[in-house]
Amino acid sequence: MHFSEKRIATSVLVIGTGGAGLRAAIELAERGVGVLAVGKRPKADAHTSLAAGGINAALATMDPEDSWRQHAADTLKESYLLANPRTVRIVTEGAARGIEDLQRYGMPFAREQDGRISQRFFGAHTYRRTAFAGDYTGLEIQRTLINRAAQLDVPILDTVYITRLLVRDNAVFGAYGFDLTDGSRYVIHADAVILAAGGHTRIWRRTSSRRDENTGDSFRLAVLAGCRIRDPELVQFHPSGLIAPEDAAGTLVSEAARGEGGILRNQLGERFMSRYDPERMELSTRDRVALAAYTEIKEGRGTPDGGVWLDVSHLPRETIMTRLPRVYQTLLELQMLDITKQPIEIAPTAHYSMGGVWVRPEDHGTGVDGLYAIGEAASGLHGANRLGGNSLIELLVFGRIVGQAAAGYSAGLDAQRRSAEALDAARAEVDESLAADGPENVRSLQRALRDVMTEHAGVVRDEGSLLKGLAELTDVEARMANVGVHPDLAGFQDLAHAFDLKSAALAARDDRDRTRAS
Ligand code: FUM
Repeated sequence: MHFSEKRIATSVLVIGTGGAGLRAAIELAERGVGVLAVGKRPKADAHTSLAAGGINAALATMDPEDSWRQHAADTLKESYLLANPRTVRIVTEGAARGIEDLQRYGMPFAREQDGRISQRFFGAHTYRRTAFAGDYTGLEIQRTLINRAAQLDVPILDTVYITRLLVRDNAVFGAYGFDLTDGSRYVIHADAVILAAGGHTRIWRRTSSRRDENTGDSFRLAVLAGCRIRDPELVQFHPSGLIAPEDAAGTLVSEAARGEGGILRNQLGERFMSRYDPERMELSTRDRVALAAYTEIKEGRGTPDGGVWLDVSHLPRETIMTRLPRVYQTLLELQMLDITKQPIEIAPTAHYSMGGVWVRPEDHGTGVDGLYAIGEAASGLHGANRLGGNSLIELLVFGRIVGQAAAGYSAGLDAQRRSAEALDAARAEVDESLAADGPENVRSLQRALRDVMTEHAGVVRDEGSLLKGLAELTDVEARMANVGVHPDLAGFQDLAHAFDLKSAALAARDDRDRTRAS
């Protein structure tokens, strides 16, 4: 088969059209810098649109005692002191500016009667500092950023799958990819590249990510480009994922449900958080609440289907309708369950990659010249436990900073050396994948990999189980050598799944010699 190859040149290429990528692209466009944003999902449906309960900034609209310093202290403490203090300072100090930017772009935040932005409690925050739009906060942010990008005429191609970053002598010069609809190829030359292609939580079976998103693409692209990965094992399990129906297992029930007063009970009717964190109860940290739910289930106090109960039915109907509308709709749609009357059966769900591409705190440079990473692809802010609401503000703060940094890098570039070998290798890799006609099926290998991660690398891990998991992963990797890749009339999704699988295997292995930052 012969595929046409389009050649595009831009100053800065942004890979990923979720909130982080769009915010960076907006910064570049506002500065008059040429930018192109590409992504593998329809932009209105990027993963950011799933973010629910809110975005943090110490605006002190509800609790005047709050300050960015307290926000920083909460973030550092609850990260088990593994967050990078400089990153934490940059985000918490810059958070109010991030909210201002969103307001300037037209974001419809929930407000008090007198016009102040409302802020709600989220777990382990000393004060109410989570601003929101119902429990559709991410969706509204995504819409707001898309509108702003459209005003600035930012070109967005959201059917492009990037397979390789193009690098010569430790400097990036673009990326290679293909179109998901017709298979045509893209050679995109750029002075600088911003990697904003998300995390790797879809490599678990029960996850708040949907099919084919957060498959570890950023990790693979970055590692092959010469970057390091920091703490990929630090994955946040959110306490409240749905357990049914099976094909939607892991769907998020926002922490806003607990923030608004939701209560957790086990099958015996006990409010079990009193055993694990009697002071903060349901508003303890995510890791503690997830571990508590896991323990209740493991020790036989869970529901027959392996969950615990989250109950908001005692809250005023008005609260549910205005502050938890998505949870209300989701439960009706997926389970025909009315949360104003009945409790929700939940269990922990893989939710967020707290580790990611190693980046410098000040500008999110990766150590490969001209290559930046941002959002869930990057690491540094969350340490071993992320505070809910911190990821949305991170992408606003670092979107601006990384946009500035990439603009500066592009402006300061005297000349750029490209590499025909790097381009040939990228092209050959896609050709080889397309020629693969083995008996193994990509979809079933993705599932096998998710099963391995779920069995052996879940909320609680031990050496024995991890070693078994590694052995099983080796089997999956061996089978990957015999896949068949079959694009069809509908498009080139199967080719994308094959690359997703490669990324997932790399992210699952967490090969410290190859990927661990020092
Ligand atoms: O539960 C939630 O609404 C999730 C928020 C977050 O992960 O920041």
